Amino acid sequence: MKTRISGKQISMSDLMFSISEAMDIAHHKLALHQLRTAYICWKMAEEAALAPLQIEKLFLAAMLHDIGAFTALEKISHYEFEAEDCESHCLRGELIYRQVPWLAASAKMVRLHHTPWCRCNESIDATDVMEAQMLMLAEKLEREIDRDVYILNQSSALREKMRNMAGKVIHIRVLELFLCVSENEAFWLELTAPNLMNFLKYKGPVQHIYGDAAAALKMEEFFTAIIDFRSKYTASHTAGVSSCTTSLGALLGLSESERVELDLAATLHDLGKIGVPNEILEKPGKLTKQEFAMIKMHSYLTFTLLDSVRGLEEVARIAGSHHEKLDGSGYPFHIESDEISTSSRIVAVSDVFTALAEDRPYRDGLPPKQIKRIMQEMVTKRHLDARIVDTLSSNVDEVVRAMKVRQQQWTERYYTVLSMTNGSLGTLH
Ligand SMILES: [Fe+2]
Ligand SMILES: [Fe+2]
Ligand SMILES: [Fe+2]
Repeated sequence: MKTRISGKQISMSDLMFSISEAMDIAHHKLALHQLRTAYICWKMAEEAALAPLQIEKLFLAAMLHDIGAFTALEKISHYEFEAEDCESHCLRGELIYRQVPWLAASAKMVRLHHTPWCRCNESIDATDVMEAQMLMLAEKLEREIDRDVYILNQSSALREKMRNMAGKVIHIRVLELFLCVSENEAFWLELTAPNLMNFLKYKGPVQHIYGDAAAALKMEEFFTAIIDFRSKYTASHTAGVSSCTTSLGALLGLSESERVELDLAATLHDLGKIGVPNEILEKPGKLTKQEFAMIKMHSYLTFTLLDSVRGLEEVARIAGSHHEKLDGSGYPFHIESDEISTSSRIVAVSDVFTALAEDRPYRDGLPPKQIKRIMQEMVTKRHLDARIVDTLSSNVDEVVRAMKVRQQQWTERYYTVLSMTNGSLGTLH
């Protein structure tokens, strides 16, 4: 995207890297799965002498090709070749890519990333078909790599496995591209190098895509897919927090630029939850010390994933501080009141308010009166900001009305996305 830029520039390519990394944090076996797939695609695309824009499209498709697999269970079942239904996450992925103007061109490749050549029904020269086949080969190859065996001791066997797919699964021209690029050791060593992320970020084919905060917000569909759509109980959590922060930002008189940044921070505040298993997030009753220690990781992960995106440093600070408390007893940085910005305080108040108002697997949402009482207690303990809680309490009906509308939209979106894709609710709790 050679975007029009207004306001602060954000590296959208860095953001793609961070979302890709976040997705693959969901399970240790998945680490760098999508980025390694992207690397293989890039090398084959170069060998095919594709135009730079076409290489960019393919690389962007590969980076988040599994965005439609919402739960860790679903992601890992595809990774281990055990999923019965591969089609659903491809269709969902296509739908998500189509929502973002500069990523829509990659949508078809995402849809076809598990379609074997014999079921393609299109010419290999049709738009994006050869690229989709490259993505398919790359993805299969990446999953075949044994992470416990030195790569050069398995590269010949991997080449043989890919060769056996020629014709039926992979088009012969695509296989030939792969056989060419995988002839030298550097390909395999680069693919499995520990610094692959930085190598791709600074030397790869997608480096200079910039946009403003509004453009980043247009990726909401991607964020929601990985943060909220893991469970019906969280499907509209971010929507609720965002709506609440939007209302509070306006009521508290924040400037236009502060409000856009605040919206983005609210939208991304729980990005790091991808690293925490659903069983812990949804556990009824009290968490053990070890489980709570896992929960504490999420806001740190949010911070670090966003802080590595050029232009999002302030958003990272706001979002990463949403569990800090004014008395310094929050986590993960234990910063105190004078270091916690107004925007961070707004996200913290909105997060608590939304969480208390929502249904959980183990309880229904609480009524506003009870929520107000709980939040007042938190103000007394110096956990939450008094002025922000007062503003919310004085305008609670208006805030809740807007919040319900927004949450309803995302709940409907969640069920629409599920129902249009083979109704595979079975793999999604
Ligand atoms: Fe994959
Ligand atoms: Fe997949
Ligand atoms: Fe959180």
